[in-house]
Amino acid sequence: MNITLDINTGDCIRCGHCVRVCPSRIFSQEEKNGPVAVQNVQTCIGCGHCVAACPKNAVRHSLFPPEKTHPYSVKDYPTPEQMTLLCKGRRSNRAFTTAPVPVEALRQIVEAAHRAPTASNLQQVAFTVITDPARLRQITEFTLDVYRSALKKLRNPLLKPIIRLSMPDAAHYVPTFERLIREYKAGNDLILRGATAVILIHTPRQCRFGTEDANLAYQNGSLMAECLGVSQFYTGFVLAAVKQNGKGSLEKALGIDGTIRAGMALGMPEFRFPNYIDKKEEGFARYL
Ligand SMILES: Cc1cc2nc3c(=O)[nH]c(=O)nc-3n(C[C@H](O)[C@H](O)[C@H](O)COP(=O)(O)O)c2cc1C
Repeated sequence: MNITLDINTGDCIRCGHCVRVCPSRIFSQEEKNGPVAVQNVQTCIGCGHCVAACPKNAVRHSLFPPEKTHPYSVKDYPTPEQMTLLCKGRRSNRAFTTAPVPVEALRQIVEAAHRAPTASNLQQVAFTVITDPARLRQITEFTLDVYRSALKKLRNPLLKPIIRLSMPDAAHYVPTFERLIREYKAGNDLILRGATAVILIHTPRQCRFGTEDANLAYQNGSLMAECLGVSQFYTGFVLAAVKQNGKGSLEKALGIDGTIRAGMALGMPEFRFPNYIDKKEEGFARYL
């Protein structure tokens, strides 16, 4: 990254906020309320904390010019009570109608997901939004093809030990795979469950924290979906098939350059849940 970064000393009030927040220690201040020095700009990870934290917009950063810097007030955040209710009320609602998810809602969900933190601020998470029914079918069929092939191997006495090594819990899933395949033949797609949209979240193949980054993005997006009244669930069956396939076949079929790390199936809900239920209460957290 070719970054230019300096401080407008005329506007700087020497509060030292940039010094405190920069993860790369680019800013330094010899003494409290003393002048702020800038060094080793090449180590900047482009997180923008210095610009976001400056009360006087005195940090001039080439990645964050004034038009990319937006004042806001934490007073406008949801209250802790509202946030708690969202966490309690959010569910994986699979009771979809056939109505399409509005494009604007999909855009807002992707925007929320894109805002999630990424390791070293690499921001390599990308999204593929699929609403074309033929492509949605393609996702389900890819998943079931992988499961069919796994079943075949699991039933082969010679291959059984090998697949057990590569997929230790496969035997446990045999009845599930069989049911998914049987139901699909009978016209019930238990992979996407009638979702009218899927958001696949992917990163470059070599991204070290790709799985973590993508799944943090997923959770941001899923909470936004809940607030928008769009239902969604995590496409774990698809993800398991992507991993089991290991050849990037679904990525190739959908023109995705990278590896799929998370996925969300979405649709408009037939109804919303009027209750939240209590989760396991005991033994779920320790405070040391
Ligand atoms: C990693 C992961 C994989 C999942 N895979 C699927 C899936 O393939 N199909 C599905 O219908 N739900 C899937 N779910 C949703 C879970 O079943 C659901 O989160 C769980 O039952 C709790 O319900 P809640 O999300 O309403 O709290 C998955 C969830 C996670 C976290």
